[in-house]
Amino acid sequence: MDTVKLSSGEFVPLEMHKARIVQRITLEPIEQRKRAIEEAGFNTFLLKNRHVFLDMLTDSGVNAMSIEQQAAMLLADDSYAGSETYYRLEQALMDFFGTRYFLPTHQGRAAENVLANSFIQPGLVALMNFHFTTTKALVTLRGGSVLELVSEAGLEIESDLPFKGDFDLASLNAEIERLGTDNIAFVRAEAGTNLIGGQPISMGNMRAVSAVCKEKGLLSVLDASLLADNLYFIKTREAGFADVDLATITRELGQLFDIIYFSARKLGCVRGGGIVTNNEELYKQMRGFVPLFEGFLTYGGMSVREMEALAVGLRETLDFDVISQTPIFVRALTEELTRKGVPTVTPAGGLGCHINAFKFLPHIKQSHYPAGALAAAVFLAGGIRGMERGTLSEQRNPDGSEPLAEMELLRLAFPKRVFSLSQVKYIADRVAWLFANRELVGGLRFVEEPPTLRFFFGRLEPLGNWPQQLVDAFRCDFGDSL
Ligand SMILES: Cc1ncc(COP(=O)(O)O)c(C=O)c1O
Repeated sequence: MDTVKLSSGEFVPLEMHKARIVQRITLEPIEQRKRAIEEAGFNTFLLKNRHVFLDMLTDSGVNAMSIEQQAAMLLADDSYAGSETYYRLEQALMDFFGTRYFLPTHQGRAAENVLANSFIQPGLVALMNFHFTTTKALVTLRGGSVLELVSEAGLEIESDLPFKGDFDLASLNAEIERLGTDNIAFVRAEAGTNLIGGQPISMGNMRAVSAVCKEKGLLSVLDASLLADNLYFIKTREAGFADVDLATITRELGQLFDIIYFSARKLGCVRGGGIVTNNEELYKQMRGFVPLFEGFLTYGGMSVREMEALAVGLRETLDFDVISQTPIFVRALTEELTRKGVPTVTPAGGLGCHINAFKFLPHIKQSHYPAGALAAAVFLAGGIRGMERGTLSEQRNPDGSEPLAEMELLRLAFPKRVFSLSQVKYIADRVAWLFANRELVGGLRFVEEPPTLRFFFGRLEPLGNWPQQLVDAFRCDFGDSL
């Protein structure tokens, strides 16, 4: 895909697929959008889809399937135990990661729940390059804690570092020394590090982390939910990998880590999840939790139709043209926004384009949730639904104090193979308009704040009348345009 050049030299995210089934979407007038976001308590998770024009909340479970995946669904063998579908998927995972044992779960956090129940005890620490919301919530629920060891340079929002998700190896060694191996539950590497902007971890770093774990006798875990994007970046950014095929890289990962788990809502473009390992003891240690929390061992809460589609989706993940689509669309939007002066996370990563709310809305205090306010404002400006990834997504400390996030980001996720280039241009236009009118946007405060995962169901209100001011400015500039 990267080899297609236009005569102008311009970079264009050329689609290596065509649409065979489409879904009608509507763009409501801004006054209607204001009512919708008010009803949603200024929380984009609570918006009804009927009010959303471009749903960029996540890529989770909303990726476009291929015709081969759709066709495979018809082959599903529906039975409680011993389904042929399970054995086909087990084989597909063996081919993909080269691992022997597979535990199905209904989604990624369910795999994390099995891991937390198997390996976290009160007081134990889970070391990771960076946390993911559900991972951290499940570890802390079991009385453990999370320590993040991504290098400081990885947290610089604007940078040209190709692998911002890499562990700081010196800190990893120092923390193992300080804590003692008995106090560490596992070391978890997250591919395509979600909360720092979909930033990849290099193969070199994963090899080094694995070697440290093997040497110290620590359990190593890979969260492969965002592996597809990460594979693209290993191929395109890491020295020595341009000519290595994706299957070889993926199979090596299966040897590097004791346990790999994934959200198949992301990896494989279906709705499900799973855990794989080569270690029979670990498999047996985790196995009992699957029928308890998920469903019998041969479906684990997944529909057999999705399992068939996942087997195909995994094979398609090894096709460079398939996995290129998201990163090149993220890059196209990031570059367009950068040209228009909008502050974004650079280099462009996978998953989505990440806008830096610290810089976009410097007048809003972090305790007034700049990234949350930006999410609401972008919905108002364009009917575009993104996701806050900042202080709102954190949870309060046990003493009730509020940890301020390292970054205040608005993520505009790209569901795989869903959006077109004209939609990207529209997004860039509306976000740039908002940037020009940024001083109108104010902060938010909670009116209802749940104790866990508050970003999912919490309700907020604007500080001041800024949503109406934004509507007035929009009408002034765009007349009666939608
Ligand atoms: C890195 C990572 N891990 C785990 C999960 C949880 O997966 P799921 O949403 O399927 O529960 C996600 C979901 O976004 C993720 O991005």
